[in-house]
Amino acid sequence: MERLHTDAAPPTVAPQAIGHLTRLFAMSPDLLAAAGFDGLLKHFNDAWEHQLGWSREELETRPYLEIVHPEDRADTEREIARLAAGETVTEYVCRVLCADGSLRWMAWSGGPGDEAFYIVGRDVSDRLAMEHELAQRAERLQDTNAELQDFAYTASHDLSEPLRMVASFLSLLDRRSAEQLDEAGRDYLRQALDGAGRMRHLIDDLLLYSRVANEEPRREQVDLNALVAEVLQVLGPSIAAERATIDVGRLPTLEAEPVQLAQLLQNLIGNAVKFHGADRPPTVRVTARRTIGGGVLTVADDGIGIADADQERIFAMFTRLHGHDRFAGTGIGLAICRRIAERHGGRIYVESSVGRGSAFHVLLPDAPAVPGTPRQV
Ligand SMILES: Nc1ncnc2c1ncn2[C@@H]1O[C@H](COP(=O)(O)OP(=O)(O)OP(=O)(O)O)[C@@H](O)[C@H]1O
Ligand SMILES: [Mg+2]
Repeated sequence: MERLHTDAAPPTVAPQAIGHLTRLFAMSPDLLAAAGFDGLLKHFNDAWEHQLGWSREELETRPYLEIVHPEDRADTEREIARLAAGETVTEYVCRVLCADGSLRWMAWSGGPGDEAFYIVGRDVSDRLAMEHELAQRAERLQDTNAELQDFAYTASHDLSEPLRMVASFLSLLDRRSAEQLDEAGRDYLRQALDGAGRMRHLIDDLLLYSRVANEEPRREQVDLNALVAEVLQVLGPSIAAERATIDVGRLPTLEAEPVQLAQLLQNLIGNAVKFHGADRPPTVRVTARRTIGGGVLTVADDGIGIADADQERIFAMFTRLHGHDRFAGTGIGLAICRRIAERHGGRIYVESSVGRGSAFHVLLPDAPAVPGTPRQV
């Protein structure tokens, strides 16, 4: 607690300085005053009249507590008692009554003197209204987000069951009665089965997305060498089909949720294997390094590349730059990757040039240390 009372004499002020100080006092847009412990204002500037609408005479004769909102008077008296005890007050906010019956939120700072205390008041009504509005918007946004996530989860979950039924009857039809159909009929059936398969993928990816969105990552030390090896095993069939070469450097250990990090790597490496031109099989390079307070993970390919204009939007849900006839996919993979990176407090971005290849970088900061608990290295 700061004590301003000292035995030192007040500083002497040159006579011409008094003139300057008086002018400044009169000009201040903030409410300035020397207020007595007897409850009356002793000396105050014009801002009091301009902002609150009371006349100078009213302000001189009415106890200042009377212009404080009745509900804030007890707190205000407590702050005045602190000033009387020699303490300083900063940013004490209370409601003040104006002559026209309106209210203003004022933030007061004050310091003690011998027969009076000194106060500066600033109107913070607009600032508080804005802060309130912002807080309300943030709350509404959070509610809407939560509702949307619930909706995505419920919708994809409930769509699963009827889809399973459609897919299993289509398969039955294919196995039992396909030969009774003519060529066109068999083609319709194949397309229906293909559509059902794509829908299955879409629903699985949507469920995965909402799960990542809803669950807080439980981080641990993840040995990337082992994790990438697992992911390459899962991707084995597509790597073989595309005759891809995957070049993996020596990888460090990173702090992350292992299942989510595997999902992220699986989509990035899967994309790198998938999006290549017809002229040569893909070569993919996976590297990572530790940085101060985290790590960077990079998956680079020599594939078809991505135009500058598309490099941001590919991370949005359902964005695909090509038709199904050229590359399969639902367009959710990178949205999941972005969610995973963000849930870890990090981010993902791409550097790419068309026809030469792409490099996806993921920045993953370590979890912030909880104060008081020693950090495990
Ligand atoms: N390595 C890459 N090279 C070129 N284009 C890419 C690459 N990775 C992603 N893209 C482009 O970004 C789009 C979105 O990628 P994303 O992984 O989200 O979807 P997808 O692979 O089409 O489907 P899935 O949801 O099955 O992953 C892709 O459709 C593709 O057009
Ligand atoms: Mg993908």
